[in-house]
Amino acid sequence: MSRKRILMCGPPEHYGVKYEINPWMKKSNQPDRARVEMQWRSLKDALERSGVWVSLVGQLPNFPDMVFSANAGIFNRNKNTVLLSRFRYPERQGETPAFRDWFLSQGFNFKTLPSGIFFEGEGDALVFKDKLICGYGFRSDEAGGVLAAEFMELEPITLRLIDPHFYHLDTCFCPIPEKNLIMYYPPAFDSASCYIIETLGNIIRVSQKDALGFVCNAVVLDSKLIATQVSLELKIELKKHGVETEGVNLSEFIKAGGAAKCLTLFI
Ligand code: ARG
Repeated sequence: MSRKRILMCGPPEHYGVKYEINPWMKKSNQPDRARVEMQWRSLKDALERSGVWVSLVGQLPNFPDMVFSANAGIFNRNKNTVLLSRFRYPERQGETPAFRDWFLSQGFNFKTLPSGIFFEGEGDALVFKDKLICGYGFRSDEAGGVLAAEFMELEPITLRLIDPHFYHLDTCFCPIPEKNLIMYYPPAFDSASCYIIETLGNIIRVSQKDALGFVCNAVVLDSKLIATQVSLELKIELKKHGVETEGVNLSEFIKAGGAAKCLTLFI
């Protein structure tokens, strides 16, 4: 297996809460500049120490959420091609050309979705073995997930999100294919979706407290998770399944509704 490569956007000099497009974002609750820089670096360092090759795309001044590179698209390594996102909110739509140009500068190709279909990249589409698990209901359309699965040459599984605090799949669902394991927060999904999830593999249901702490928003490196704040009970439970966890404090990014996974895109 080749070395893992991740795209991050930074340094996060233009990050901040400049508008409110999810319930976590409050313009009255701004991230602390010094901590933003430090936390972003500690995530990058943790990834690099784990052997990941981290690439960087510079942040555009007027796009504070561009730091959440998971939303840029989804990358197919066999095709050396990215399927670019189409953002739901105009506030983020201008990120796409910058991400596209970065992919082109690296010699990769890009594809776009048919007009009118929204899809927010790895934020709403995560690989689990031969399947692409896709979330819809807030940002991505179900059709976007199905097209992304086709692009990835994987079987689509679409899940409906119902709690606005968990508006992207990666905020409440974390697949760990290496261990045939899925960690998720059931109240974020409708009951039909929970039913499907429970058939996919071994399951860990996280508590409300862990879920609201963004624990599912973890970067999965085979049998290791890099996540923000993992409770002791969950650490123990994960360990039983052979999964190690490394904690990185990302409190300043949670103020915009994102954490470790949101800040990374597998390429
Ligand atoms: N403020 C950003 C938004 O609402 C956060 C994105 C988080 N990204 C993610 N993959 N969940 O779009």
